[in-house]
Amino acid sequence: MTEQSSPSAADGVSAADPRRVVIFDTTLRDGEQSPGASMNLDEKLRIALALEELGVDVIEAGFPIASIGDFESVHEIAKVVKNSTVCGLARAAKGDIERCAEALAPTARKRIHTFISTSPLHMKYKLQMAPERVLEKVVESVSQARNLCDDVEWSAEDGSRTEHDFLCRCVEAAIRAGAGTVNIPDTVGYAMPDEFAALIAMLINRVPNIDKAIISVHCHNDLGVAVANSLAAVNAGARQVECTINGLGERAGNAALEETVMALKTRHDRLPFTTEIKTEQITKVSRLVSAVTGFVVQPNKAIVGANAFAHESGIHQDGMLKHAGTYEIMSPESVGLNQSKLVLGKHSGRHAFKEKLKDLGYEFGDNAVEDAFRRFKDLADKKKDVFDDDIVALVDDEVMRANDYLKLVSLEILCGTKHNPPEATLELSIDEVKKSHTATGDGPVDAAFNAVKALFPHRARLQLYQVHAVTQGTDAQAEVTVRLEEDGRTVIGQAADTDTMVSSVKAYINALNKLLVKREKTAPSALSA
Ligand code: KIV
Ligand code: ZN
Repeated sequence: MTEQSSPSAADGVSAADPRRVVIFDTTLRDGEQSPGASMNLDEKLRIALALEELGVDVIEAGFPIASIGDFESVHEIAKVVKNSTVCGLARAAKGDIERCAEALAPTARKRIHTFISTSPLHMKYKLQMAPERVLEKVVESVSQARNLCDDVEWSAEDGSRTEHDFLCRCVEAAIRAGAGTVNIPDTVGYAMPDEFAALIAMLINRVPNIDKAIISVHCHNDLGVAVANSLAAVNAGARQVECTINGLGERAGNAALEETVMALKTRHDRLPFTTEIKTEQITKVSRLVSAVTGFVVQPNKAIVGANAFAHESGIHQDGMLKHAGTYEIMSPESVGLNQSKLVLGKHSGRHAFKEKLKDLGYEFGDNAVEDAFRRFKDLADKKKDVFDDDIVALVDDEVMRANDYLKLVSLEILCGTKHNPPEATLELSIDEVKKSHTATGDGPVDAAFNAVKALFPHRARLQLYQVHAVTQGTDAQAEVTVRLEEDGRTVIGQAADTDTMVSSVKAYINALNKLLVKREKTAPSALSA
């Protein structure tokens, strides 16, 4: 067969600069496959625009064949994103590839990413296909994609557990058929850094046409080494890293974008590679993804955890006061974290509030600032000091509720020693129609949740109900997390309010709103990664 000339990843940037690493973000695709994470169209658009502003080269916007919702989000993202390549995922099937091309039609900067499993285990049990048939499918799928799109990426699913000879043959065939990027996933997060680097070096040494494509890696974090594996692969010659914000993704997640990028930046002496990521945007995007998905970032998470730049012990604080370099290897400002400790209160004005939002990494239009300011004033009436964490909780709450089908209108609870059983009177807006109901329960939360269920009957099971105080003091906002499960689908809802009962109901209906989004999705077969 004739060899197709292939454009290199993200408009040839790597060809121009051999040290440039292409950042391929898959928060909206692999990230959305995290159990419990789901995003509606509006949320996905907001994240895509934030990723573009962050400087991501390629945004994997979804898997168009998976559902109408997925198709629409790829299509709409392709309309608005201008500076990043927009990518869609497709199995090695004509229908998938055509649907993907259709979704990407609005943009000139597009990529079709097609994949098939290549490991003995996956070929035998998942695909039930002989290796030679898989090889044919590689050529067929890449050729089909290249007929519809100049920029094609091919992935060897379960690549790290694939026999080397077969992997070399598949990679060579994919490049010959026109793939400009060949991706080697560690689908099950099994590889170790030295082993994974050796795999990339092996491909560079053995695949004759490897110089015609960019090698990409896609590492899962099952053993906690996804970022280490990605960095080892870059050292060995890979020039695209697939990653997600906050390390979101299937099971234990994918390599975290913020960790990969900051390691490349901070340890440039050991890893002399560059990216186009504007690292000062990292905190803002991390917060947005956390607010939209309801996945709270663990406090000790590298780069974006609440404690990542906090110094608690006296010895550390003393050292920091003398010289920040004593205990800080990168500055908080370099990831967009402003350390200002300005506390707001009920006398703070619009200007101070706006400045605070900017410091915290939020940039809103005037209307959204006005809404947030109104909510801030309400909060400041209930709470003397409004800390940064209060504002983050308040704004995130707003972000999460923008287009909800179910909304809380009012809640009244009777409980305590004189009211047995506790009673909740709830008014909800359901698709803009107001309805109310009074229910009792074993406790005030149970009564309120029973009222929700009476107004909006559903089969979802409550798996987790958790409350945590956003700041110290009895006037602190209560941040409630609720996890629901329905037919194997899980969703996480979150909300914050100074009234624990109000945040409980808001978190519950936030989870139900997400479940409605999830119900639209049907998982296509053979999508396990
Ligand atoms: O983990 C994986 O193998 C994937 C592929 C679809 C790239 O997500
Ligand atoms: Zn994956």
